[in-house]
Amino acid sequence: MAERLVDVDGVNLSVEDRGAGRVIALVHGFPLDRAMWAAQIAALGGQFRVIAPDLRGFGKSSLAPDDAEQGVGMERYAADVAAVLDELGVTEPVVLAGLSMGGYAAWQFALRWPERLAGLVPCDTRAIADTEEARAGRLKMAEAALAAGDSSPALSMLPKLLGKSTHQSRPEIVAAVQAMIQRQTAEAVAAAQRGMARREDVRSRLKEIACPTLAIVGAEDVISSPAEMREFAAAMPQAKVVEIAGAGHMTTMENPAAVTQAIADFARSIDG
Ligand code: MLT
Repeated sequence: MAERLVDVDGVNLSVEDRGAGRVIALVHGFPLDRAMWAAQIAALGGQFRVIAPDLRGFGKSSLAPDDAEQGVGMERYAADVAAVLDELGVTEPVVLAGLSMGGYAAWQFALRWPERLAGLVPCDTRAIADTEEARAGRLKMAEAALAAGDSSPALSMLPKLLGKSTHQSRPEIVAAVQAMIQRQTAEAVAAAQRGMARREDVRSRLKEIACPTLAIVGAEDVISSPAEMREFAAAMPQAKVVEIAGAGHMTTMENPAAVTQAIADFARSIDG
């Protein structure tokens, strides 16, 4: 049975736990759930132990009563991931991959628990904080979602989440991402947007993250561009960058085989 439920102070986190060996933890982006890692969970689960939570509020995980109102900080999502690893008995260092918002949480994990990381995989993510304009847009979307009572305001992100090639020729991926956004709740959207709006600019702290790092970015990503990701990777002691062809921001779904291969090769390189 791959699905586990982990209780963190009354919040139920639904977690996929599959396979054996070196642990690879996969943290999803916004406004999505762990299904965005489905291809990697299936393929990597045959070679490693894959642990993929639905972050609080998303997918099948619950929220704390005041999370939507207060916002969930990236530090909280990171602490939830740490609690999941504790609960699943993982004491050895892991490879932690986080896509976009999952990457914001992964920075916080890496800065707080460096000893728990064997490797870090920031996927399609950013180190910089929001501009004032972006922050205001997030707070507006949080309010709009709560007013609508569903995640529909977040559908405005769909054009930018996927690359030009996907929009042009792979309608089934566009439909899958759209359906994933639609099944999230207004409260999860509000909680995450309010949390992301106040997230830290970690650029000056990247030099502290000394573990082997593989930055993965879609060649057509317009949210966290290849140029931006190369720039932050250059500020890290041990980071390499791999660019994924034919993919925008949702590399794990747009070119799943290439992402799986990159993570598997990286995890194996750590183990020598
Ligand atoms: C994501 O994919 O998680 C989002 O693009 C993150 C964000 O809104 O900054």
